Amino acid sequence: MDSTVLHRLALNESPYPPLPSVRKAMRRAVAQAHRYPQFYPDDLIERIAAWCRVGPDRVVVGSGSVGVALQLLQAVVEPGDSMAYAWRTFDAYPLLAAMVGAQPVPVPLSPDGRQDLGALLTALDHRTRVVVLCNPHNPTGSLVTAEDLSAFLRQVPRHVTVLLDEAYVEFARGTELPDTAALLDAHPHLLVLRTFSKAYGLAALRVGYGLGAPGLVARIRRHQLPFGINAVATAAVKASLRAGGELRRRVDTVVAERERLRHELVGQGWHIRPGHANSVWLAAPDPVDEGAAALTAAGVQARHYPGEGLRLTVGGREANDAVLTALAGVSRPQAPGRRP
Ligand SMILES: Cc1ncc(COP(=O)(O)O)c(C=O)c1O
Repeated sequence: MDSTVLHRLALNESPYPPLPSVRKAMRRAVAQAHRYPQFYPDDLIERIAAWCRVGPDRVVVGSGSVGVALQLLQAVVEPGDSMAYAWRTFDAYPLLAAMVGAQPVPVPLSPDGRQDLGALLTALDHRTRVVVLCNPHNPTGSLVTAEDLSAFLRQVPRHVTVLLDEAYVEFARGTELPDTAALLDAHPHLLVLRTFSKAYGLAALRVGYGLGAPGLVARIRRHQLPFGINAVATAAVKASLRAGGELRRRVDTVVAERERLRHELVGQGWHIRPGHANSVWLAAPDPVDEGAAALTAAGVQARHYPGEGLRLTVGGREANDAVLTALAGVSRPQAPGRRP
């Protein structure tokens, strides 16, 4: 087997390196690297808050959105409490649960790859402190509609914090998108998680943020590491916020490539549901293991869940073409519409 990796499509990264204006801001910050960053990242919080049109007391930042998620768990979970999430999902959630001594409660996805909101609600009990919803969902890309999300939030008991992971929200398209600002106003037990790693292409710099009610945010901020957000990352995020238009055009290109990939793969006979992240999800019983082998042989690194699925990050055009060529050679899945 040829193990040379030509295209990295396994981690839902952006195919684009930082914009020139962002690199310039980072270089300036590097020249000052002998100085500490702010003790707590108050300036960055203010910038993000202004950009999100909320008060700074509603924003918390951390080492990637995964760092913010850990801070939330540290704030609300006592050993022996539990944490519910749809499974499969982002690999970090069981790890974070273990870090804070929470009992993980994985709730299977429904057969069409959606988070089963009814089953999640049923899984909540007096020990549950956090329930995670990932919207759009990793790895399937499925979207919980605004209506379903509101109904879900109304039914979650008040002692449970809802962690709404919107790491991929910038890639979602459609009229059914939840209005996050309205949800935050209505639900004081909600933390919306966002990141600069995906649409903003700054995965290496580790900056994510959470939006929530001031009381919840204050509790989470107690777990903010002093000097924890580095100055180069802060400069890059601020410059990225100034370059919003350019970055949105990049996201539009990724979305167009996602739709092209899906359309072409459906044409090859794969059964693919519409997805809203920067990825495409191929699921068993389509021949995902054979697909994974073909991609590896073609130098494409994808995320393979043996016997279950294959998550392909949407890359640049050349990488996506390599995916299409490799998967076209896989023995034909059944014709569309004939799934058992
Ligand atoms: C659903 C989801 N949430 C969060 C993250 C982590 O992002 P960050 O780089 O902000 O920690 C990922 C990364 O793949 C993800 O898929």
